[in-house]
Amino acid sequence: MSSVFQDSVDTFLAPIKKHLEDDSVTEVLVNGANEVFVERKGKLERVQDHFKDEQALLAAVRNIAQFVGRRIDEENPTLDARLPDGSRVAAVVPPCSRKGTTLSIRKFSKSNPTFVDLIERGSITKEAARFLDVAIFLGKNMIISGGTGSGKTTLLNVLGSRIPGHQRLLVIEDSSELKIKSDHVVFFETKHKDEMGKGEVTIRDLIRSALRLRPDRIIVGEVRGGEALDLITAMNTGHGGSMGTTHANTPYDALVRLETLSMMGDTQVPIAAIRRQIASAISLVVQIKRLNDGSRKITQIAEVIPDVDANGRYMVQEIFAFIQRGIAPDGKILGELIPTGTLPSFMEEIEVNRLPYGRDKFAPPAWYLAEKKSA
Ligand SMILES: Nc1ncnc2c1ncn2[C@@H]1O[C@H](COP(=O)(O)OP(=O)(O)O)[C@@H](O)[C@H]1O
Ligand SMILES: [Mg+2]
Repeated sequence: MSSVFQDSVDTFLAPIKKHLEDDSVTEVLVNGANEVFVERKGKLERVQDHFKDEQALLAAVRNIAQFVGRRIDEENPTLDARLPDGSRVAAVVPPCSRKGTTLSIRKFSKSNPTFVDLIERGSITKEAARFLDVAIFLGKNMIISGGTGSGKTTLLNVLGSRIPGHQRLLVIEDSSELKIKSDHVVFFETKHKDEMGKGEVTIRDLIRSALRLRPDRIIVGEVRGGEALDLITAMNTGHGGSMGTTHANTPYDALVRLETLSMMGDTQVPIAAIRRQIASAISLVVQIKRLNDGSRKITQIAEVIPDVDANGRYMVQEIFAFIQRGIAPDGKILGELIPTGTLPSFMEEIEVNRLPYGRDKFAPPAWYLAEKKSA
């Protein structure tokens, strides 16, 4: 924690200070003064620590808001901010939060994992990681889809850092989290409106500015509003290899979500046209999930066929899929991310570019074929 903020931690956040300073804790959740949970290794556990009363908790949240130049009160009952050390704070106060002030502090992870780390943790296989590398190299547009805390941002960091170094990347975020490593990268962050309601700079504004700054690829940390349309348009107009994350449970749902968000961006564009644009813009959806055992795994790498079917629906085909094969005595989920046997539609492009990723890499393992046969 930065030293100025440390004073706030010492005074207002004293009841949860030890968890904020404990590196094995990734998130601290406060549900009213008496209920505190912490997350370790992806699992939540309740701890005995608590705030003196609602007043003390509210004072802590107000202090955080003040620290980041914002206000939280009955009129503005929600807060979403980044602390100087990179932690993300979200809070909702009464009357909107009925049980008392609710606070979440997601700590900034100091580690910056790479593909190798994700492979070691079992989040992805070496072969699937290499496939994503190939797709990134070929400038395929990608969306990472998953729930809250499923590892989207972490994965985007990894994928963004695999973009060939000679390309110029513009990274756009609501509150800066990404640490993409590349030779040529520029980071933009949105700005909230001030107390007079002025000076707001949105993701949409930043995408538009970014397009004038000669980006090769655009990376949007999280697509959750009308900017979906701007990103889709950018992806379709010569900024291949752009990336973003969105909140959805399946690759298909991710496309539907982008569609809904695009309609928020511009209701003049007919839905059928938006669908076609999405289908042609997005090449791959990488689905990530937090499983019951606390692990984060890529559960699907799906290709979006660049057109809609006769009923105007997206055509999505799984190239890799996670198949659960059992559960260990300690609760650990056993399974494998395997190629499904479907070749990506850009197989020829892989071959023409002489990328070392042959057709045989897409063949499913024997056990899968045997299981499928017997089913
Ligand atoms: N592959 C992974 N394996 C284990 N932990 C992970 C993995 N990816 C992310 N995490 C952890 O999960 C938490 C949420 O990750 P984050 O990338 O911020 O998720 P999201 O962007 O989906 O909300 C962080 O504490 C992060 O360190
Ligand atoms: Mg995130």
